Amino acid sequence: DMYVHAATRANLDVLEARGCAVMPPEHGELASGLIGEGRLPEPEVIRDKIASVILRSARDRGDLAGRHVLVTAGPTREMIDPVRFVSNRSSGKMGYAIARAAVDRGARVTLVSGPTSLDPPAGVDAVHVVSAAEMHEAVAARSDADIVIMAAAVADYTPTEQSPQKIKKSGDSHGDEPRSLRLKRTVDILAKLGSTKRQGQILVGFALETENELEYGKRKLREKNLDLVVINNPARAGSAFGGDTNEVTLVDSSGDVHPMPLLSKAHVGGAILDNVARLLVGGKRQE
Ligand code: CTP
Repeated sequence: DMYVHAATRANLDVLEARGCAVMPPEHGELASGLIGEGRLPEPEVIRDKIASVILRSARDRGDLAGRHVLVTAGPTREMIDPVRFVSNRSSGKMGYAIARAAVDRGARVTLVSGPTSLDPPAGVDAVHVVSAAEMHEAVAARSDADIVIMAAAVADYTPTEQSPQKIKKSGDSHGDEPRSLRLKRTVDILAKLGSTKRQGQILVGFALETENELEYGKRKLREKNLDLVVINNPARAGSAFGGDTNEVTLVDSSGDVHPMPLLSKAHVGGAILDNVARLLVGGKRQE
């Protein structure tokens, strides 16, 4: 009776007229014992409704509205044989947080992800890859994006050959003969994008450094023709692999250095996009 009451309906109409999103209740057994309209929807249904309202308003008003953002995330996996691989400790959390933040700011987002245990954020176009070669192919096919953020920890090396069968132990069971694995370089996806970057495109790279962070990070920015480099050091407190926080320093192509405090990865994603949006609006000083 309460939900269908004229006073309740009139108040809901006023709220809608003021631009509020009104979520209708569900039908079913009510606290009064009656059956009808007025049940609280399940939390997941409310969450999805809120997400879709936020997405819609971000698309209408976000500072990245109309831009295509390509984000890469996670590790790559380089197969040795059908059951063994070479990889790294990247969790993908940083790249996924950037993708989520870009959706929230109204961008059309493609997330190219290596193997992770994460669910892609609502609203992204997710492309799943395994190896560095597959990630290269997926990124190259979308290299016309307005903004490319390479947060993935792409393997620098891959086995020279991949055995189609599981490799057996050699020698007798007590054999302690060392075995070696031959590796070859993978394509540096970011450097390749940098060498073919079109006017106005924004390219963001990551630099994981355990020493001389600023010097090495700036060198990557220069050598790969980036607009922004995100320098991080997993040895710092709060910046360990797989964690939910990160302490980074952002350096842009005009040489401005922005050291950030220890923040949640969601906030680091926001800070990266603040700088990207600033570069988009202000143009790049070097051009
Ligand atoms: N990257 C890439 N393709 C590769 C390797 C790395 O696009 N094959 C990108 C990463 O996504 C990241 C940046 O390049 O944005 C990292 O630069 P890189 O020089 O590879 O860093 P390191 O692997 O730390 O290199 P080094 O070992 O020389 O410090």
